[in-house]
Amino acid sequence: ATMSTEAELIHMFKGIPFTTRSSPELLKSLDTFDAREDDVLLVSYPKSGTHWLAGVITKLYNTQVTLTSPIEFGDISKLEELNKLPSKRIIPTHLDYNMLPLNFKHKKCKMIYITRNPKDTAVSMYHYYRDNPNLPTVETWTAFFDLFLKGDVVCGSWFDHFLSWEEHENEKNILFLFYEDMKKDLPKTVNEISLFLGLKISDSDIQDICRKSSFSQMKSDTEKENSDPSHTVCALTSNRKLIFRKGAVGDWKNHFTPKQNRRFEEIFNEKMKLSKM
Ligand code: A3P
Repeated sequence: ATMSTEAELIHMFKGIPFTTRSSPELLKSLDTFDAREDDVLLVSYPKSGTHWLAGVITKLYNTQVTLTSPIEFGDISKLEELNKLPSKRIIPTHLDYNMLPLNFKHKKCKMIYITRNPKDTAVSMYHYYRDNPNLPTVETWTAFFDLFLKGDVVCGSWFDHFLSWEEHENEKNILFLFYEDMKKDLPKTVNEISLFLGLKISDSDIQDICRKSSFSQMKSDTEKENSDPSHTVCALTSNRKLIFRKGAVGDWKNHFTPKQNRRFEEIFNEKMKLSKM
């Protein structure tokens, strides 16, 4: 296969790198999107546990829900396509708060933001870059590490993304979740999500959902299904199998050199000065 060049895969929009799978026309038109009051947004920086959370949320409903592909994924026909879907829609997105279609804000739609230790996110994204033909080639972890810190990766800077959403953390329609909390006590997070969504779920249902949402279960479910490109909740891939890599907390320790760790922490402390994280 021929290697695609960076220019064929990436374009800049409002200073943020997007894959060419998000057309500029679509990105420009996002504010015209008709949000519905009962839409639920599933928001993340890539590689923060989006698919895991999507798996949990879709299992929480016993009524009909549609998990769409990310709102920023596709060409201009995307808006019409989403318009045709029946409620209730669960809509994933990697957009930062500033780029989120206005109507979601006006209608105070429920939004769940999932985040993860950015060191682990960086490592996860590195492997994703390596395995995913839709992303530019990176030769080494060292090279990727620099790109990540500069925000020179798809969806831009982790820091900018996180900070844009953290500013809205206390709004009643926004729930903030951490990957690490889900690893530590999934039933607790599932309970929190169900309260936020106004769903009544029994303890035994919660246990059942947690069992079906384990890393090994989700991975093997994916291996069993035929990979349907529209089945992913990530704007960067059409191959679900690439999502379930390791599913662990702290894999950064196997990649970061002590020097990289110091540099990361310096930049983290500087950028996150005003953050509560
Ligand atoms: P790793 O690459 O560290 O393994 P996203 O869905 O946002 O693209 O995030 C992908 C990351 O979430 C991957 O991290 C993946 O393994 C992890 N993940 C997916 N499902 C999971 C699950 N059920 N439990 C724990 N981690 C999961």
